[in-house]
Amino acid sequence: MRPRDVATSTSNNPIGIGLLGAGEIGSEVARVLLRNDVSQGTYDLVLRNILVRNANRTRDGIPAHLITTDPEQVMTDPLSSVVIEAIGGEEPARTYIARSLAAGKHVVTANKEAIAKHGDELLRTAHENAATIAYEASVGGGIPVLAVLSDSLNANRIDVIRAIINGTTNYILSSMQESETSFAEALGTAQSLGYAESDPASDIDAHDAVYKLSILIRLGFGASVRPHEIHREGIANIDAKDLRYAQDLGFTIKLLAIARQEPEGLYCGVHPTLVPLDVPMAKVNGVFNAIELNGDLIGPLWLQGRGAGASPTASAIIGDVIRAAGFIRNGRGPYGKLQSRRVPPVIAAMDDFCVRYYVRLTVLDRPGVLAEIAGVFGDAEISIASVLQKDSDDRRGTADLVIMTHPAREANMQTAAKRLRKLEVVASLENLIRVEDYGQRIAF
Ligand code: HSE
Repeated sequence: MRPRDVATSTSNNPIGIGLLGAGEIGSEVARVLLRNDVSQGTYDLVLRNILVRNANRTRDGIPAHLITTDPEQVMTDPLSSVVIEAIGGEEPARTYIARSLAAGKHVVTANKEAIAKHGDELLRTAHENAATIAYEASVGGGIPVLAVLSDSLNANRIDVIRAIINGTTNYILSSMQESETSFAEALGTAQSLGYAESDPASDIDAHDAVYKLSILIRLGFGASVRPHEIHREGIANIDAKDLRYAQDLGFTIKLLAIARQEPEGLYCGVHPTLVPLDVPMAKVNGVFNAIELNGDLIGPLWLQGRGAGASPTASAIIGDVIRAAGFIRNGRGPYGKLQSRRVPPVIAAMDDFCVRYYVRLTVLDRPGVLAEIAGVFGDAEISIASVLQKDSDDRRGTADLVIMTHPAREANMQTAAKRLRKLEVVASLENLIRVEDYGQRIAF
Protein backbone atom coordinates (compact mmCIF):
# COMPACT_ATOMS: atom_id res chain seq x y z
CA MET A 1 0.00 0.00 0.00
CA ARG A 2 1.25 3.52 -0.77
CA PRO A 3 1.62 5.94 2.13
CA ARG A 4 -1.38 8.28 2.43
CA ASP A 5 -0.73 11.87 1.52
CA VAL A 6 -3.24 13.44 3.89
CA ALA A 7 -1.59 16.82 3.45
CA THR A 8 -3.40 17.26 0.10
CA SER A 9 -6.77 16.71 1.77
CA THR A 10 -8.50 19.39 3.80
CA SER A 11 -9.75 16.81 6.26
CA ASN A 12 -8.34 13.62 7.67
CA ASN A 13 -11.76 12.01 7.88
CA PRO A 14 -12.20 9.06 5.59
CA ILE A 15 -14.74 9.36 2.76
CA GLY A 16 -17.37 6.67 3.28
CA ILE A 17 -18.74 4.83 0.26
CA GLY A 18 -21.87 2.73 -0.08
CA LEU A 19 -22.26 0.26 -2.92
CA LEU A 20 -25.59 -0.81 -4.38
CA GLY A 21 -25.22 -4.14 -6.17
CA ALA A 22 -22.59 -6.86 -6.12
CA GLY A 23 -22.94 -8.48 -9.52
CA GLU A 24 -19.96 -8.78 -11.88
CA ILE A 25 -19.27 -5.04 -11.85
CA GLY A 26 -20.22 -4.27 -8.25
CA SER A 27 -18.01 -7.08 -6.95
CA GLU A 28 -15.06 -5.88 -8.98
CA VAL A 29 -15.60 -2.29 -7.74
CA ALA A 30 -15.68 -3.60 -4.15
CA ARG A 31 -12.49 -5.61 -4.58
CA VAL A 32 -10.60 -2.66 -6.07
CA LEU A 33 -11.85 -0.26 -3.37
CA LEU A 34 -10.88 -2.75 -0.67
CA ARG A 35 -7.31 -2.75 -1.99
CA ASN A 36 -7.43 0.72 -0.49
CA ASP A 37 -4.78 2.38 -2.61
CA VAL A 38 -6.96 3.43 -5.54
CA SER A 39 -6.67 7.17 -4.99
CA GLN A 40 -2.91 6.79 -4.69
CA GLY A 41 -3.11 7.98 -1.11
CA THR A 42 -4.80 11.32 -1.87
CA TYR A 43 -8.15 10.43 -0.32
CA ASP A 44 -8.99 7.92 2.36
CA LEU A 45 -11.82 6.00 0.67
CA VAL A 46 -13.61 3.50 2.87
CA LEU A 47 -16.17 1.05 1.54
CA ARG A 48 -18.79 0.87 4.28
CA ASN A 49 -21.57 -1.35 3.03
CA ILE A 50 -22.77 -3.31 0.00
CA LEU A 51 -26.38 -3.99 -0.95
CA VAL A 52 -26.99 -7.50 -2.31
CA ARG A 53 -30.08 -9.54 -3.14
CA ASN A 54 -28.80 -12.78 -1.68
CA ALA A 55 -26.75 -12.38 1.49
CA ASN A 56 -25.96 -16.10 1.70
CA ARG A 57 -23.85 -16.21 -1.44
CA THR A 58 -20.10 -16.06 -0.80
CA ARG A 59 -18.26 -13.47 -2.84
CA ASP A 60 -14.53 -13.80 -3.36
CA GLY A 61 -12.55 -11.10 -1.61
CA ILE A 62 -15.60 -9.38 -0.08
CA PRO A 63 -15.91 -9.50 3.74
CA ALA A 64 -19.33 -10.69 4.95
CA HIS A 65 -19.69 -7.83 7.46
CA LEU A 66 -20.07 -5.32 4.59
CA ILE A 67 -23.03 -7.14 3.10
CA THR A 68 -26.60 -5.99 3.67
CA THR A 69 -29.97 -6.60 2.06
CA ASP A 70 -31.36 -3.29 3.29
CA PRO A 71 -31.06 -0.54 0.63
CA GLU A 72 -31.85 2.23 3.17
CA GLN A 73 -28.77 1.29 5.17
CA VAL A 74 -26.58 2.04 2.13
CA MET A 75 -28.48 5.08 0.80
CA THR A 76 -28.78 6.94 4.09
CA ASP A 77 -25.67 5.84 6.00
CA PRO A 78 -24.63 9.02 7.86
CA LEU A 79 -20.98 8.06 7.53
CA SER A 80 -21.09 7.72 3.72
CA SER A 81 -20.75 10.61 1.29
CA VAL A 82 -20.75 8.65 -1.95
CA VAL A 83 -23.15 5.96 -3.17
CA ILE A 84 -22.20 3.79 -6.14
CA GLU A 85 -25.13 2.33 -8.06
CA ALA A 86 -24.11 -0.89 -9.82
CA ILE A 87 -27.48 -2.64 -10.04
CA GLY A 88 -28.28 -1.70 -13.63
CA GLY A 89 -31.66 -1.54 -15.35
CA GLU A 90 -34.33 1.10 -14.84
CA GLU A 91 -35.89 0.07 -11.54
CA PRO A 92 -35.23 -0.07 -8.67
CA ALA A 93 -31.95 1.58 -9.71
CA ARG A 94 -33.51 4.93 -10.66
CA THR A 95 -35.40 5.14 -7.35
CA TYR A 96 -32.26 4.26 -5.40
CA ILE A 97 -30.20 6.90 -7.26
CA ALA A 98 -32.87 9.55 -6.57
CA ARG A 99 -33.19 8.51 -2.94
CA SER A 100 -29.40 8.64 -2.41
CA LEU A 101 -29.21 12.11 -4.01
CA ALA A 102 -32.10 13.27 -1.85
CA ALA A 103 -30.11 12.06 1.17
CA GLY A 104 -27.31 14.38 -0.01
CA LYS A 105 -25.01 11.62 -1.27
CA HIS A 106 -22.88 12.04 -4.35
CA VAL A 107 -23.88 9.28 -6.74
CA VAL A 108 -21.68 7.40 -9.16
CA THR A 109 -23.47 5.10 -11.57
CA ALA A 110 -22.85 2.91 -14.60
CA ASN A 111 -26.55 2.95 -15.40
CA LYS A 112 -27.09 4.07 -19.00
CA GLU A 113 -30.80 3.24 -18.98
CA ALA A 114 -31.57 5.32 -15.88
CA ILE A 115 -29.50 8.28 -17.12
CA ALA A 116 -30.82 8.12 -20.68
CA LYS A 117 -34.46 7.94 -19.57
CA HIS A 118 -34.38 10.05 -16.40
CA GLY A 119 -31.21 12.16 -16.73
CA ASP A 120 -32.96 15.55 -16.52
CA GLU A 121 -34.87 14.66 -13.38
CA LEU A 122 -31.88 13.01 -11.66
CA LEU A 123 -29.62 15.97 -12.44
CA ARG A 124 -32.28 18.28 -11.00
CA THR A 125 -32.50 16.18 -7.83
CA ALA A 126 -28.73 16.28 -7.53
CA HIS A 127 -28.71 20.07 -7.93
CA GLU A 128 -31.50 20.58 -5.39
CA ASN A 129 -29.55 18.57 -2.82
CA ALA A 130 -26.13 20.10 -3.50
CA ALA A 131 -25.02 16.65 -4.61
CA THR A 132 -23.37 15.46 -7.80
CA ILE A 133 -24.07 12.58 -10.12
CA ALA A 134 -21.35 11.07 -12.30
CA TYR A 135 -21.83 8.37 -14.91
CA GLU A 136 -18.62 7.90 -16.87
CA ALA A 137 -19.03 4.10 -16.76
CA SER A 138 -22.40 4.30 -18.48
CA VAL A 139 -20.83 4.78 -21.93
CA GLY A 140 -17.87 2.99 -23.45
CA GLY A 141 -16.87 0.89 -20.42
CA GLY A 142 -13.41 2.08 -19.44
CA ILE A 143 -13.10 4.80 -22.12
CA PRO A 144 -13.09 8.23 -20.43
CA VAL A 145 -15.30 9.79 -23.09
CA LEU A 146 -17.72 11.68 -20.86
CA ALA A 147 -14.94 13.49 -19.02
CA VAL A 148 -13.45 14.43 -22.39
CA LEU A 149 -16.77 15.68 -23.80
CA SER A 150 -17.94 17.52 -20.72
CA ASP A 151 -14.68 18.90 -19.48
CA SER A 152 -11.65 18.83 -21.76
CA LEU A 153 -13.65 19.79 -24.87
CA ASN A 154 -15.79 22.44 -23.19
CA ALA A 155 -14.52 25.10 -25.60
CA ASN A 156 -15.59 23.14 -28.67
CA ARG A 157 -18.71 22.95 -30.73
CA ILE A 158 -19.10 19.25 -31.57
CA ASP A 159 -20.63 18.52 -34.97
CA VAL A 160 -20.28 14.77 -35.24
CA ILE A 161 -20.01 11.74 -32.98
CA ARG A 162 -19.70 8.29 -34.46
CA ALA A 163 -19.26 5.38 -32.12
CA ILE A 164 -19.18 1.68 -31.56
CA ILE A 165 -20.63 1.61 -28.04
CA ASN A 166 -21.94 -1.90 -27.61
CA GLY A 167 -19.27 -4.50 -26.94
CA THR A 168 -21.59 -7.50 -27.30
CA THR A 169 -22.78 -6.69 -30.81
CA ASN A 170 -19.29 -5.68 -31.90
CA TYR A 171 -18.00 -8.97 -30.55
CA ILE A 172 -20.72 -10.86 -32.46
CA LEU A 173 -20.20 -9.03 -35.77
CA SER A 174 -16.39 -9.36 -35.54
CA SER A 175 -16.60 -13.09 -34.72
CA MET A 176 -19.03 -13.68 -37.58
CA GLN A 177 -16.65 -11.90 -39.94
CA GLU A 178 -13.29 -13.15 -38.70
CA SER A 179 -13.99 -16.77 -37.81
CA GLU A 180 -17.37 -17.37 -39.41
CA THR A 181 -18.77 -18.08 -35.94
CA SER A 182 -22.56 -18.34 -35.86
CA PHE A 183 -24.58 -15.54 -34.31
CA ALA A 184 -25.74 -17.76 -31.41
CA GLU A 185 -22.26 -19.07 -30.63
CA ALA A 186 -20.74 -15.56 -30.60
CA LEU A 187 -23.54 -14.30 -28.34
CA GLY A 188 -22.94 -17.24 -25.96
CA THR A 189 -19.24 -16.34 -25.68
CA ALA A 190 -20.03 -12.65 -25.14
CA GLN A 191 -22.39 -13.67 -22.33
CA SER A 192 -19.84 -15.96 -20.69
CA LEU A 193 -17.28 -13.15 -20.79
CA GLY A 194 -19.68 -10.87 -18.93
CA TYR A 195 -20.19 -8.40 -21.80
CA ALA A 196 -23.87 -8.93 -22.47
CA GLU A 197 -26.78 -7.38 -20.58
CA SER A 198 -28.88 -9.70 -18.40
CA ASP A 199 -31.40 -9.57 -21.23
CA PRO A 200 -29.16 -9.73 -24.32
CA ALA A 201 -32.03 -8.40 -26.45
CA SER A 202 -31.04 -5.01 -25.05
CA ASP A 203 -27.68 -5.43 -26.84
CA ILE A 204 -28.91 -7.18 -30.00
CA ASP A 205 -31.84 -4.84 -30.58
CA ALA A 206 -29.62 -1.81 -29.90
CA HIS A 207 -31.50 -0.40 -26.88
CA ASP A 208 -28.20 -0.38 -24.96
CA ALA A 209 -26.42 1.60 -27.68
CA VAL A 210 -29.37 4.01 -27.94
CA TYR A 211 -29.16 4.77 -24.20
CA LYS A 212 -25.45 5.42 -24.56
CA LEU A 213 -25.90 7.63 -27.63
CA SER A 214 -28.50 9.67 -25.77
CA ILE A 215 -25.87 10.30 -23.05
CA LEU A 216 -23.20 11.22 -25.61
CA ILE A 217 -25.64 13.68 -27.20
CA ARG A 218 -26.43 15.21 -23.80
CA LEU A 219 -22.77 15.98 -23.17
CA GLY A 220 -21.59 16.51 -26.74
CA PHE A 221 -24.46 18.58 -28.13
CA GLY A 222 -26.04 19.89 -24.92
CA ALA A 223 -29.38 18.35 -25.94
CA SER A 224 -31.66 16.18 -23.87
CA VAL A 225 -32.72 13.48 -26.31
CA ARG A 226 -34.92 10.66 -25.02
CA PRO A 227 -34.15 7.12 -26.21
CA HIS A 228 -37.42 6.87 -28.17
CA GLU A 229 -36.38 9.91 -30.25
CA ILE A 230 -33.31 8.06 -31.56
CA HIS A 231 -33.72 5.89 -34.65
CA ARG A 232 -32.89 2.29 -33.68
CA GLU A 233 -32.18 -0.89 -35.63
CA GLY A 234 -30.44 -3.94 -34.15
CA ILE A 235 -28.22 -6.61 -35.68
CA ALA A 236 -30.56 -9.62 -35.57
CA ASN A 237 -31.10 -9.39 -39.32
CA ILE A 238 -27.41 -9.33 -40.27
CA ASP A 239 -26.41 -12.52 -42.05
CA ALA A 240 -22.89 -13.88 -42.65
CA LYS A 241 -23.68 -13.24 -46.34
CA ASP A 242 -24.00 -9.50 -45.70
CA LEU A 243 -20.59 -9.41 -44.06
CA ARG A 244 -19.11 -11.35 -47.00
CA TYR A 245 -20.72 -9.19 -49.69
CA ALA A 246 -19.88 -5.99 -47.83
CA GLN A 247 -16.25 -7.08 -47.72
CA ASP A 248 -16.29 -7.75 -51.48
CA LEU A 249 -17.45 -4.15 -51.88
CA GLY A 250 -14.70 -2.77 -49.61
CA PHE A 251 -16.75 -2.44 -46.39
CA THR A 252 -17.39 -4.10 -43.08
CA ILE A 253 -20.60 -3.90 -41.04
CA LYS A 254 -20.68 -2.27 -37.61
CA LEU A 255 -23.48 -1.28 -35.27
CA LEU A 256 -22.74 2.45 -35.38
CA ALA A 257 -24.21 5.10 -33.13
CA ILE A 258 -24.24 8.37 -35.00
CA ALA A 259 -25.07 11.93 -33.98
CA ARG A 260 -24.30 14.44 -36.67
CA GLN A 261 -25.22 18.06 -37.15
CA GLU A 262 -26.57 18.47 -40.67
CA PRO A 263 -28.39 21.37 -42.34
CA GLU A 264 -31.71 19.51 -41.80
CA GLY A 265 -31.05 19.15 -38.05
CA LEU A 266 -29.42 16.56 -35.80
CA TYR A 267 -29.17 13.09 -37.32
CA CYS A 268 -29.29 10.59 -34.48
CA GLY A 269 -29.47 6.90 -35.04
CA VAL A 270 -28.09 3.53 -34.06
CA HIS A 271 -28.17 0.99 -36.87
CA PRO A 272 -26.02 -1.55 -38.67
CA THR A 273 -23.81 0.45 -40.99
CA LEU A 274 -21.45 -0.28 -43.86
CA VAL A 275 -18.10 1.20 -42.87
CA PRO A 276 -15.25 1.47 -45.42
CA LEU A 277 -12.51 -1.06 -44.66
CA ASP A 278 -9.82 1.61 -44.71
CA VAL A 279 -11.11 3.80 -41.85
CA PRO A 280 -10.04 3.12 -38.23
CA MET A 281 -13.62 2.30 -37.15
CA ALA A 282 -13.57 -0.76 -39.42
CA LYS A 283 -10.68 -2.19 -37.42
CA VAL A 284 -12.35 -1.91 -34.02
CA ASN A 285 -13.08 -5.53 -33.23
CA GLY A 286 -14.23 -7.78 -30.38
CA VAL A 287 -15.37 -6.08 -27.20
CA PHE A 288 -13.52 -2.88 -28.05
CA ASN A 289 -15.54 0.30 -28.32
CA ALA A 290 -14.46 3.44 -30.14
CA ILE A 291 -15.75 6.97 -30.30
CA GLU A 292 -14.71 9.43 -32.97
CA LEU A 293 -15.82 12.99 -32.81
CA ASN A 294 -15.16 16.30 -34.40
CA GLY A 295 -14.93 19.63 -32.59
CA ASP A 296 -14.57 23.03 -34.24
CA LEU A 297 -11.33 23.77 -32.36
CA ILE A 298 -9.79 20.36 -31.78
CA GLY A 299 -10.79 18.83 -35.11
CA PRO A 300 -11.02 15.03 -35.16
CA LEU A 301 -10.52 13.02 -31.98
CA TRP A 302 -10.42 9.26 -31.55
CA LEU A 303 -10.92 7.23 -28.35
CA GLN A 304 -10.75 3.46 -28.22
CA GLY A 305 -10.75 0.94 -25.39
CA ARG A 306 -12.56 -1.93 -23.71
CA GLY A 307 -16.25 -1.11 -23.83
CA ALA A 308 -17.53 -3.78 -21.46
CA GLY A 309 -16.36 -6.13 -18.76
CA ALA A 310 -15.93 -5.79 -15.01
CA SER A 311 -12.45 -4.26 -14.76
CA PRO A 312 -12.76 -1.51 -17.42
CA THR A 313 -16.16 -0.53 -15.99
CA ALA A 314 -14.73 -0.51 -12.45
CA SER A 315 -11.95 1.74 -13.74
CA ALA A 316 -14.51 4.32 -14.87
CA ILE A 317 -16.66 4.01 -11.73
CA ILE A 318 -13.79 4.43 -9.32
CA GLY A 319 -12.39 7.30 -11.39
CA ASP A 320 -15.73 9.04 -10.78
CA VAL A 321 -15.60 8.19 -7.06
CA ILE A 322 -12.20 9.87 -6.84
CA ARG A 323 -13.63 12.91 -8.66
CA ALA A 324 -16.48 12.99 -6.15
CA ALA A 325 -13.87 12.84 -3.38
CA GLY A 326 -12.16 15.84 -5.01
CA PHE A 327 -15.48 17.69 -4.94
CA ILE A 328 -16.06 16.81 -1.30
CA ARG A 329 -12.57 17.92 -0.26
CA ASN A 330 -11.89 20.79 -2.69
CA GLY A 331 -15.27 21.72 -4.23
CA ARG A 332 -14.17 20.65 -7.72
CA GLY A 333 -15.84 18.36 -10.25
CA PRO A 334 -17.04 15.66 -10.84
CA TYR A 335 -17.21 17.18 -14.32
CA GLY A 336 -16.53 20.78 -15.07
CA LYS A 337 -19.44 21.07 -17.54
CA LEU A 338 -20.55 24.64 -17.89
CA GLN A 339 -24.22 25.41 -18.33
CA SER A 340 -24.43 25.68 -22.10
CA ARG A 341 -25.97 28.88 -23.44
CA ARG A 342 -25.95 27.47 -26.94
CA VAL A 343 -29.28 26.55 -28.44
CA PRO A 344 -29.50 22.75 -28.49
CA PRO A 345 -29.85 21.23 -31.96
CA VAL A 346 -33.20 20.11 -33.28
CA ILE A 347 -33.59 16.42 -34.03
CA ALA A 348 -34.72 15.96 -37.60
CA ALA A 349 -36.86 13.09 -38.86
CA MET A 350 -34.91 10.26 -40.47
CA ASP A 351 -36.98 10.75 -43.67
CA ASP A 352 -35.15 13.96 -44.47
CA PHE A 353 -31.60 12.64 -44.52
CA CYS A 354 -29.66 11.37 -47.52
CA VAL A 355 -27.31 8.40 -47.31
CA ARG A 356 -26.08 5.64 -49.59
CA TYR A 357 -27.68 2.22 -49.17
CA TYR A 358 -26.65 -1.40 -49.51
CA VAL A 359 -29.68 -3.42 -50.59
CA ARG A 360 -29.66 -7.24 -50.66
CA LEU A 361 -32.45 -9.01 -52.48
CA THR A 362 -33.20 -12.61 -53.30
CA VAL A 363 -34.59 -12.45 -56.83
CA LEU A 364 -35.75 -14.80 -59.55
CA ASP A 365 -32.81 -15.51 -61.86
CA ARG A 366 -34.40 -14.81 -65.25
CA PRO A 367 -34.36 -12.19 -68.04
CA GLY A 368 -35.85 -8.78 -67.37
CA VAL A 369 -35.58 -8.93 -63.58
CA LEU A 370 -32.81 -6.38 -63.31
CA ALA A 371 -34.67 -3.90 -65.52
CA GLU A 372 -37.81 -4.22 -63.40
CA ILE A 373 -35.87 -3.65 -60.17
CA ALA A 374 -33.91 -0.75 -61.67
CA GLY A 375 -37.26 0.79 -62.65
CA VAL A 376 -38.40 0.85 -59.00
CA PHE A 377 -35.23 2.68 -57.97
CA GLY A 378 -35.60 5.09 -60.89
CA ASP A 379 -39.24 5.85 -60.02
CA ALA A 380 -38.17 6.65 -56.45
CA GLU A 381 -35.47 8.98 -57.79
CA ILE A 382 -32.70 6.78 -56.44
CA SER A 383 -29.59 6.43 -58.52
CA ILE A 384 -27.90 3.01 -58.52
CA ALA A 385 -24.09 3.03 -58.12
CA SER A 386 -23.39 -0.69 -58.64
CA VAL A 387 -25.09 -4.06 -58.91
CA LEU A 388 -23.59 -7.45 -58.03
CA GLN A 389 -25.20 -10.79 -58.68
CA LYS A 390 -24.11 -13.47 -56.18
CA ASP A 391 -24.81 -17.05 -55.16
CA SER A 392 -27.20 -18.22 -57.87
CA ASP A 393 -29.29 -21.14 -56.67
CA ASP A 394 -30.13 -23.21 -59.80
CA ARG A 395 -32.44 -25.54 -57.89
CA ARG A 396 -34.66 -22.71 -56.66
CA GLY A 397 -33.99 -20.51 -59.69
CA THR A 398 -32.99 -17.56 -57.50
CA ALA A 399 -29.92 -15.38 -57.05
CA ASP A 400 -28.69 -12.79 -54.55
CA LEU A 401 -28.64 -9.26 -55.87
CA VAL A 402 -26.62 -6.63 -54.07
CA ILE A 403 -27.31 -3.05 -55.05
CA MET A 404 -25.32 -0.04 -53.86
CA THR A 405 -27.06 3.28 -54.33
CA HIS A 406 -25.84 6.85 -54.58
CA PRO A 407 -27.02 9.09 -51.71
CA ALA A 408 -30.80 8.84 -51.51
CA ARG A 409 -33.46 10.35 -49.29
CA GLU A 410 -34.57 7.95 -46.57
CA ALA A 411 -38.23 8.54 -47.47
CA ASN A 412 -37.53 7.62 -51.12
CA MET A 413 -35.63 4.49 -50.08
CA GLN A 414 -38.53 3.35 -47.91
CA THR A 415 -40.95 3.93 -50.80
CA ALA A 416 -38.72 1.87 -53.08
CA ALA A 417 -38.38 -0.89 -50.45
CA LYS A 418 -42.17 -1.16 -50.16
CA ARG A 419 -42.52 -1.52 -53.93
CA LEU A 420 -39.62 -4.00 -54.20
CA ARG A 421 -41.26 -6.26 -51.60
CA LYS A 422 -44.39 -6.39 -53.78
CA LEU A 423 -42.61 -7.32 -57.03
CA GLU A 424 -43.30 -10.87 -58.21
CA VAL A 425 -39.62 -11.23 -59.26
CA VAL A 426 -38.38 -10.37 -55.75
CA ALA A 427 -38.51 -13.44 -53.50
CA SER A 428 -37.40 -11.32 -50.57
CA LEU A 429 -35.85 -7.99 -49.65
CA GLU A 430 -33.27 -9.43 -47.27
CA ASN A 431 -31.53 -6.35 -45.98
CA LEU A 432 -31.28 -2.62 -46.30
CA ILE A 433 -28.18 -1.20 -44.66
CA ARG A 434 -27.04 2.43 -44.58
CA VAL A 435 -23.52 3.28 -45.68
CA GLU A 436 -21.60 5.77 -43.56
CA ASP A 437 -20.11 8.31 -45.86
CA TYR A 438 -16.86 9.32 -44.25
CA GLY A 439 -16.31 11.95 -46.92
CA GLN A 440 -13.82 14.55 -45.76
CA ARG A 441 -15.32 15.02 -42.31
CA ILE A 442 -12.96 12.89 -40.25
CA ALA A 443 -9.46 11.93 -41.32
CA PHE A 444 -7.03 10.19 -39.02
N1 HSE B 1 -23.85 -4.95 -22.67
C1 HSE B 1 -22.99 -3.83 -22.76
C2 HSE B 1 -22.11 -4.01 -23.99
C3 HSE B 1 -22.17 -3.74 -21.51
O1 HSE B 1 -22.09 -5.11 -24.55
O2 HSE B 1 -21.45 -3.07 -24.41
C4 HSE B 1 -21.51 -2.42 -21.32
O3 HSE B 1 -22.42 -1.37 -21.19
